[in-house]
Amino acid sequence: MHQFTKTLVTTALPYANGPVHLGHLAGVYLPADLYVRYKRLKGEDVIHIGGSDEHGVPITITAEKEGISPQDVVDRYHRMNHDAFLKCGISFDYYGRTTSRVHHATAQEFFSEIEQKGIFVRKTEKLFFDRKADRFLSDRYVTGTCPICNNSEANGDQCEQCGTHLSPLELINPKSKLSDATPELRDTMHWYFPLGRFQEQLESYVSQHEDDWRQNVLNYTHTWLKQGLKERAITRDLSWGIKVPLESDEAAGKVLYVWFDAVLGYISFTREWAEKQGKSERWKEYWQNPDCRLVHFIGKDNVVFHTLMFPAILMAWNEGRESGCYNLADNVPASEFMNFEGRKFSKSRNYAVYLGEFLEKFPADTLRYSIAINYPENKDTDFSWLDFQNRTNGELADTLGNFIKRSVDFTNARFDGEVPYQCTPEDWNSLGINWPETLEQLDLAYEGFHFRDAVTLGMEIARAANRFLTVSEPWKVVKVDREAAAKTMALSLNLCHALSIALFPVMPETSNRIHVMLGFQGSIEDLVTPGKSIVAELLLPGLKKGHKISPRSEILFTKIEDSDIAPELRKIEELLAEAVKRESGAEQCRMEFKPVISFDDFLKVDLRVARVISAETVKKASKLLKLQLQVGSVTKQVLAGIAKEYTPEEMVGKNVVIVANLAGRTIRDEVSEGMILAVEGADGKLFLIEPAGTEINGKQIQ
Ligand code: MF3
Ligand code: ZN
Repeated sequence: MHQFTKTLVTTALPYANGPVHLGHLAGVYLPADLYVRYKRLKGEDVIHIGGSDEHGVPITITAEKEGISPQDVVDRYHRMNHDAFLKCGISFDYYGRTTSRVHHATAQEFFSEIEQKGIFVRKTEKLFFDRKADRFLSDRYVTGTCPICNNSEANGDQCEQCGTHLSPLELINPKSKLSDATPELRDTMHWYFPLGRFQEQLESYVSQHEDDWRQNVLNYTHTWLKQGLKERAITRDLSWGIKVPLESDEAAGKVLYVWFDAVLGYISFTREWAEKQGKSERWKEYWQNPDCRLVHFIGKDNVVFHTLMFPAILMAWNEGRESGCYNLADNVPASEFMNFEGRKFSKSRNYAVYLGEFLEKFPADTLRYSIAINYPENKDTDFSWLDFQNRTNGELADTLGNFIKRSVDFTNARFDGEVPYQCTPEDWNSLGINWPETLEQLDLAYEGFHFRDAVTLGMEIARAANRFLTVSEPWKVVKVDREAAAKTMALSLNLCHALSIALFPVMPETSNRIHVMLGFQGSIEDLVTPGKSIVAELLLPGLKKGHKISPRSEILFTKIEDSDIAPELRKIEELLAEAVKRESGAEQCRMEFKPVISFDDFLKVDLRVARVISAETVKKASKLLKLQLQVGSVTKQVLAGIAKEYTPEEMVGKNVVIVANLAGRTIRDEVSEGMILAVEGADGKLFLIEPAGTEINGKQIQ
């Protein structure tokens, strides 16, 4: 393994198009913060770079909806999210914005370099143009009917109902979202990045990380590599974004695709960080130094942008260069998702707890602890108010807080506020905590991105400490054996000290309060010394005999009463009730029946009972299953949007109802020769109509 001397940590740039919620915190920002804070304690050279992603079509759509400018939108959410992160103790070294001058220049510099090397491909394609609005319509600005499931509100890039990835050209009855007009097709030229040109290089890059990247990261990446990498358009016909840096007519009205610019934000922001310190070249020590380890913290939905796209852009830059080459990521710890009370966070449904709002009611450290201990490392996890309450009250208040307060109070009451005994290494190792092993495990946990383990280890020290104090009963012992009680208190205070360090990454504010209670000036951050690990020092007791602690103790954690979370629980109920109402409201809409048809018309529809003989998933269409159906003596292939509800395995053998005489359709080289019937239940879940009876296969339904 390469020995790195520096670490550059980046966190996915959240879109400045809405407030960040606890799901974002859990997957990306908190784990990154734990990692960098731990490394700082070790005296390592590490920086954490993040910021706002301020381009992209959804921001323009928000602006149009609210009748304000895109700049207003990003100003609002950039400030809001940055404030929330600060309040939560996320210790960015720099938090930038992709609307900055430096970022525009950096992104344009990359475009120009790759353009000059002749790597981009230019392609002219037909794109919808809205004459009324005098604008080309990007995918998201077109809606229409899905060719697969008939959903009349499919988006130009994807049908929400069946999950199929679409191009606007595939929509039936396309409409412009800007004016409702039927758009016309016009030629437009765009720059494409030929990812395929880097296929081999990327394969070899990824193969070097088969052992150290997470399984989910490798899976997403391999799926793309296996399908063969294709060229991707990296320009758009939009006004909001970074202008294509060419004078020619063909560049007029075109901006860089948001993902092309966003990933480069990591570089721009490191430049800005360096400039701010008056050391404008310093960013190169992190980006262009093979001894610096690059780590991207992201959510699982961003994987291939970081394991394939961004590396390919950097490879294009590095090509043919002797110096000034950029590092590729050494690791990309992508998280799974954290759900909220058993359901997915959903911004559009307002089903979320926003970070800023949360921190108005509860302290950051209790949140950090509850979230870190539920870190979605290999599987989706859940945040619930009750879990938050239980952990705060049980683990933080009753165990950790109680131990610290008892230690400080009793030392003040009976030992003049001084460490009353010099602990030896033997004493330190007699507590039932194997320090060398614990510290090694802690290190493996942090360095391996196993944050749940890391935090759990810290809390185990707290449990052991609390047990030690309770069992030793110094308040009784002191009356008969003052020396023994003194030793207990010296060990307890040393445990307080060890906890303040071991738990610092997850609860920095609390740790600093413990630090002060132990009589230190300043904060734990002040102890950080390059090249010296404060964590490794816990191998030995840290507080000497005679060390003065603070005469005052504090209550570290306030317990959360049922009445504190009652409004939150009510709010969830309301949100769920609203969702149900929305769904039944939609029902009522559908009660306006379609126009009357004659009996003969009805007889034209040939409904049959069919049996599923095989089923498989469909690439790039997460909601679709490809089914082979036996309809009497005939077999038919049907694509059905039911993959979210049914696995291929459980489909086999089912009886279903098929519209057997529906005109066939070809979707991405797959033929669908009919449609199977299903009904939408609660939460938009589909339920198949499954006819019962004997010897019914192939029979007509009447
Ligand atoms: N804004 C994107 C999202 O929220 C993430 C961008 S990450 C970066 O999904 F690579 F672009 F920086
Ligand atoms: Zn669809």
